[in-house]
Amino acid sequence: MKVLVSDPIAEEGLEILKSEHEVHVRTGLTEEELAEIIPEYDALVIRSGTKVTEPIINAADRLKIIGRAGVGVDNIDVPAATRKGIIVANTPEGNTISAAEHTLAMMLALSRNIPQANASLKANRWDRKRFMGSEIRGKILGIVGLGRVGIEVAKRAQSLEMDIIAYDPFIPAQRAKELGIKLADLETVLKQADYITVHTPLTDETRGMISDPQFAIMKPGVRIINCARGGIIDEDALARAVNKNHVSGAALDVFVNEPPTGSPLLEIENVIVTPHLGASTAEAQVAVAVDIAKQVLAALRGDSVTSAINLPPVRSDAMTVIAPYIDIAEMLGSMSAQLCRSFDEIEIEYTGSIFDTDVRMITLAALKGVLAQSMGPTVNYVNAPEIAKERKIRIKESKSLETDELQSVTIGLSGGIESRSVTGGLVGDGMRILKIDGHRVDIVPSRYMIIARHENRPNIIGPCCMILGRENINISGMQVSEAGIDNISIMILNVDSEVSDAVLDKIRGVDGVNDSELIRV
Ligand code: NAD
Ligand code: MLT
Repeated sequence: MKVLVSDPIAEEGLEILKSEHEVHVRTGLTEEELAEIIPEYDALVIRSGTKVTEPIINAADRLKIIGRAGVGVDNIDVPAATRKGIIVANTPEGNTISAAEHTLAMMLALSRNIPQANASLKANRWDRKRFMGSEIRGKILGIVGLGRVGIEVAKRAQSLEMDIIAYDPFIPAQRAKELGIKLADLETVLKQADYITVHTPLTDETRGMISDPQFAIMKPGVRIINCARGGIIDEDALARAVNKNHVSGAALDVFVNEPPTGSPLLEIENVIVTPHLGASTAEAQVAVAVDIAKQVLAALRGDSVTSAINLPPVRSDAMTVIAPYIDIAEMLGSMSAQLCRSFDEIEIEYTGSIFDTDVRMITLAALKGVLAQSMGPTVNYVNAPEIAKERKIRIKESKSLETDELQSVTIGLSGGIESRSVTGGLVGDGMRILKIDGHRVDIVPSRYMIIARHENRPNIIGPCCMILGRENINISGMQVSEAGIDNISIMILNVDSEVSDAVLDKIRGVDGVNDSELIRV
């Protein structure tokens, strides 16, 4: 078979690929050039340079796998690949340490003005006063996103005698405690930290999570580091904060556009930059190249691909029965994790005789849906149970096979102070949401839904709808459940667009509304 490698990867990985297949290395291709040659290939191996867009995927008639030598898959149109049945696989662990070390290097370079001092001396200036630095010992490092890289950064910073405070709503407090890290809400981290480093994936939720309002509450003189993904920190807001000297410096390895040609950040003396070098070490590049080459060989042999992001390893005979419920369970998992942020137990309940079969894939899909809320697209069917275990999340599965009710799957999350659940099933060929927190509903899911709990009395639904109307947000569907014994009902509004936190806050402010969330599916 033929393998195309369209970004540079280590020779060790190429050798593994060549042991079984014809390998062509062609880097620097434009989208059109790649779309033109991709029909010849059975596998594509990339790093972050190649953007695998829908036109490329649509042209890829023989492609079985896209192998990403690295973590982030935001340069691949994963839904398009999934639709076309192309496996997308990555290498989540090979470059963790390199990314963490680069973050530390950036933090130290920032504190001691190393890039600026280096440039000055090489321009024949001996300027010692201008480059007065500051120690990092005893300073507070705020980490946003305490996953693989975040944890390794924390451990290294602790050895440099920094105090760590972290925000990651998806990490159990116990796990952070074991690592000697104080968990806090985002506002507290931003207010207290002397250095702030982000290590989340780029998701709908994290895009722009550090912007003008967040800079405004930070300590004057704070330093910012982004070695995760461009766009988590709003670049224009960062430029404004540095120019006002509120932020005394920033170190960036990643950008919204790479290369960031013309970015005002490149003009600012106190902003130091590297061209996406977090994973650029000999060790990491060998690790990710070898890892992805093995995944590609497995896929081309028809074996299971252990770090597949988009396709479950399902036996074809079981697939016929369970296939529709895989998508339903993933959607319900995602919905429940958006309703209940802090949980340590996931309960998956199967109702109906159809589930008298091997439902492990559906359970995995539910788990993936739940965890993807916090982990982004790197969580897959294979690593989801391991991630749940690491996070000390209990998973319960139960079946009620004898029932008069519709065949359905319920995902319940519980922990801390609350528990929430969402039930879904199939009506005809279409997905339906059948219950929320046990309240019966019948909703065709849409991309955006507002789910609000409220008292069952007059003058609540009207004011909520008026708030949306005033914001020009179209409601395309609506349902209100019967009230429970606590006299609480659930209102579900299918809306046609995003709804900002400010608008949700207005809905939450309506007398009788208990809570209101925007759910994206
Ligand atoms: P990970 O999935 O192990 O960790 C991400 C963490 O972010 C998780 O613990 C998750 O709970 C948390 N998170 C998700 N949404 C959040 C939110 N809204 N608020 C706070 N926390 C949230 O990923 P990782 O392997 O540690 O990688 C972290 C980032 O670094 C990714 O964006 C990855 O692509 C990037 N990366 C960059 C380089 C580089 O070359 N610069 C190298 C490796 C990784
Ligand atoms: C990653 O997501 O792994 C990093 O961004 C490194 C890379 O560019 O491969």
